[in-house]
Amino acid sequence: MKIIAIANQKGGVGKTTTSVNLGACLAEKGVPVVVLDLDPQANSTSALDFVPGDNPSIYQHLIGGGDVAELVLPTKYPQLSLIPCDMDLAGCEIEMAREDDHLVRLKNLLAPFKASAPFDYMLVDCPPSLGVLMTSALAAADELIVPLQCEYFGLEGLSKIVGVHQQIRDSGANSDVVLEGIIMTMADSRTNLSTMVINDVREYFPEVTYETIIPRNIRLGEAPSYGKSIIDYAPSSTGAAAYRALAEEFLRRHA
Ligand SMILES: Nc1ncnc2c1ncn2[C@@H]1O[C@H](COP(=O)(O)OP(=O)(O)OP(=O)(O)O)[C@@H](O)[C@H]1O
Ligand SMILES: [Mg+2]
Repeated sequence: MKIIAIANQKGGVGKTTTSVNLGACLAEKGVPVVVLDLDPQANSTSALDFVPGDNPSIYQHLIGGGDVAELVLPTKYPQLSLIPCDMDLAGCEIEMAREDDHLVRLKNLLAPFKASAPFDYMLVDCPPSLGVLMTSALAAADELIVPLQCEYFGLEGLSKIVGVHQQIRDSGANSDVVLEGIIMTMADSRTNLSTMVINDVREYFPEVTYETIIPRNIRLGEAPSYGKSIIDYAPSSTGAAAYRALAEEFLRRHA
């Protein structure tokens, strides 16, 4: 199983939307995926139609240890599973920060699961901060994917997360984690700014930037309130087409 951190310290850039819908589109193609909700906001937990707090989350395990496999919930979509989260994870961040091994705690916790889990990929939906949870996700990950909103401040945030990625590599916590991809999200084809930002990112990160661009699509915003993925809620929307194309590109890049 490959662990992929979906991360950007900037809020509202499409981390959760990408974790859930890339996961759903990979699963639709028969690729077994588990989404790990590592954000105390529990957005991917509710987007996959679970009530945060109803099931044990990764929280207790991060503090006390345990078998991660016990936490896995099958979703209503074949091949797509979830390790849920609840608000307690916010407290967990504070408790973890007191421990010397906080950076590698998640990595160590996931190690036996990574070796034996019946999934090809784990997509880790990270919280919007540079805190302990997010950095520990980078320390546990094989790859980092950064969703980036097509706007000017998106670019500023990119240099920050690229810096953190480098720090994690240099720290010895995880010298192998690679920046696998940048996904441009919420693109508005009618604005020049979207096009300018996309061109800039492609110029600096030609190999890394995904060709597939996720457009702004109202259906993508609506789907989580019904506890549905975009391919279930609005299968013929531009959002569904984009995430299906993204899953295909992801699989080509991981072939
Ligand atoms: N391509 C899109 N088109 C329209 N709305 C979108 C799109 N992608 C995401 N959204 C909406 O924008 C908001 C932010 O997206 P999302 O929750 O995925 O971002 P996030 O990076 O996970 O946020 P946070 O940092 O708070 O965890 C949500 O309401 C989501 O439904
Ligand atoms: Mg989110």
